[in-house]
Amino acid sequence: MSYSIIGFGAVGQALARAFARKNIDVTVASRRPPEMLMQQAQAIGPTVVPRTLQDAIASDTIFLAVPFWEHREVAKQITAWHGKTIIDETWLAKADDGSVLEVQLQFARGVPARGKVEAKLHSASKPDFYRIYKFEQVADVARSTATVIDRVSKFSIKATGPRFAPLFNGSEQLISITSVPSYSRSIYVPVM
Ligand SMILES: NC(=O)c1ccc[n+]([C@@H]2O[C@H](COP(=O)([O-])OP(=O)(O)OC[C@H]3O[C@@H](n4cnc5c(N)ncnc54)[C@H](OP(=O)(O)O)[C@@H]3O)[C@@H](O)[C@H]2O)c1
Repeated sequence: MSYSIIGFGAVGQALARAFARKNIDVTVASRRPPEMLMQQAQAIGPTVVPRTLQDAIASDTIFLAVPFWEHREVAKQITAWHGKTIIDETWLAKADDGSVLEVQLQFARGVPARGKVEAKLHSASKPDFYRIYKFEQVADVARSTATVIDRVSKFSIKATGPRFAPLFNGSEQLISITSVPSYSRSIYVPVM
């Protein structure tokens, strides 16, 4: 298993230190040439090796530590998905009346983005009462018409029966497919 960190700022270097502490080889890269990252990499440890962005993208596992708006630029560098991990999923939902919804999806795994959201929701009927929701997820956009990402090799939706058939009558357009391999949610309530 080979690892790389793309982005070698505050977060990238903190991640590289974690690899160095465990003595694990890791490639680091940014838009700057490897020579320009060498001094900082050597200061962290000998297992941290600067390489080009193309070399970093060839790793089995890639950690993204670039500004969020740069994710798209990094994704554009990956033109060939051959040899990447392919996810194949089939979902089947059956209603009591025999209606069936079947979704088949196959895509090459990309670079997932980690996101955290914290929200405090107040009750409409009792405004003093609130709950705190904390969500943390990892999301992999496999297809997006807006950002021209498409790693989907197979996709179909089959809807039959009175419950599901009206939902998918062929007039809809698919604009995005996002895989969420990891999701956690904690809910807190105040002690009143
Ligand atoms: N710092 C924190 O405490 C913190 C905490 C939580 C989350 N985050 C998030 O973590 C991410 C990184 O934050 P950071 O503080 O480490 O940022 P940073 O110090 O500004 O570093 C960003 C790194 O990304 C590289 N980079 C930018 N665009 C790139 C591209 N298209 N391709 C390859 N490399 C690119 C930059 O190097 P070049 O200019 O050489 O390309 C730089 O090494 C951000 O999304 C930030 O919101 C940061």
